[in-house]
Amino acid sequence: MLFLSPITLASTDESIARAASILKNEGIVAFPTETVYGLGARFDSEKAIEKIFVAKGRPKDNPFIVHICHPNELSIIATGVPAIAERLMLSFWPGPLTIVLPKTPIVPKIATAGLDTVGVRMPAHALALALIRAVGVPLAAPSANLSGRPSPTSAMHVKEDLDGRIDAILDGGQTEVGLESTVVTVAQDRITILRPGAVTREMLEEIGRVRVVSPSYDPSLVPAAPGMKYIHYAPRAEVSVFVGQAISMLPDKVHRLQQRDAVIAVVAYEDTLMQINNGMVKMSLGERDRVDLAAKRLYAYLREADHLSVNHILIEGIEARGLGEALMNRLLKAATHVIGGSV
Ligand code: TXA
Ligand code: MG
Repeated sequence: MLFLSPITLASTDESIARAASILKNEGIVAFPTETVYGLGARFDSEKAIEKIFVAKGRPKDNPFIVHICHPNELSIIATGVPAIAERLMLSFWPGPLTIVLPKTPIVPKIATAGLDTVGVRMPAHALALALIRAVGVPLAAPSANLSGRPSPTSAMHVKEDLDGRIDAILDGGQTEVGLESTVVTVAQDRITILRPGAVTREMLEEIGRVRVVSPSYDPSLVPAAPGMKYIHYAPRAEVSVFVGQAISMLPDKVHRLQQRDAVIAVVAYEDTLMQINNGMVKMSLGERDRVDLAAKRLYAYLREADHLSVNHILIEGIEARGLGEALMNRLLKAATHVIGGSV
């Protein structure tokens, strides 16, 4: 397969038109959304979708989310939409919520990893919506990272992972949310969260009864969201996440590692960082009451740690409430060790 070098396009009408033309012709283009950057292909092109699997090194059993620019595109890709799904769309679209629905025959099996369902979302990002509109068909798009790496929250991150493997990057600056969308399935009045995100459990409880699939992965089970079984979001360094009471052990652990000449990065709230000696990389999650800022920064920190050749990242776990539930889910997925009991 011939790969063209990506061209970084500025966020203008002309660049949207160029990106759309590449996509129409079955190329693959990275684009910003409010959550993370996606790597898009026309949803109806097996050839383009195949290119994404190759570019990312993505396992074939992990289905893609299909992105639409208007609710009236839903009927192209999904059928048998229950009333509760319609209520979710009214409340949370455009936005970081992916709803898994029965797929129409036109959606190729390769896009859904052989499943009869498709994850659909309408992103809340002007560039993403304009791009989908210009292509004229929905876009199948996983996050625009190499498989197993943290999702990209800037065009630079995409370039870092996929330079030479994709046709173009549409640069929309840093993404707003910083964590991937909430993925849900629905049945009658029940909502099951397969992947927590910025549309939180508390927000979904306004619409129906909510259940969250446990973040821990049991390899003997077939996971509800196939993507959740893979080690994800992981930098190259060893990652220790400290939770609950164990957070008080963090400064001591840093001290011991320092004596072994490890290159250490500490990712923690401002007040915790103040208790830690200098001489290591400190990455601030900010103030304790701004989980949104912590979420926005996390993936960039994990990538930066790699650039700095850090070999131990120590992370302060956070309270798994509201957006904190999604952030903690990603921390646990990045973790080599979890220190401490319940969160
Ligand atoms: O915010 C996001 O969701 C970003 C942006 C680009 O939209 N996309 C994203 O895509 O994170 P990806 O492919 O990295 O993650 C999609 C997740 C995976 O865990 C996948 O298994 C799950 O959604 N998923 C997709 N389709 C599904 C389906 N039909 N049934 C169950 N899970 C599905
Ligand atoms: Mg991903």
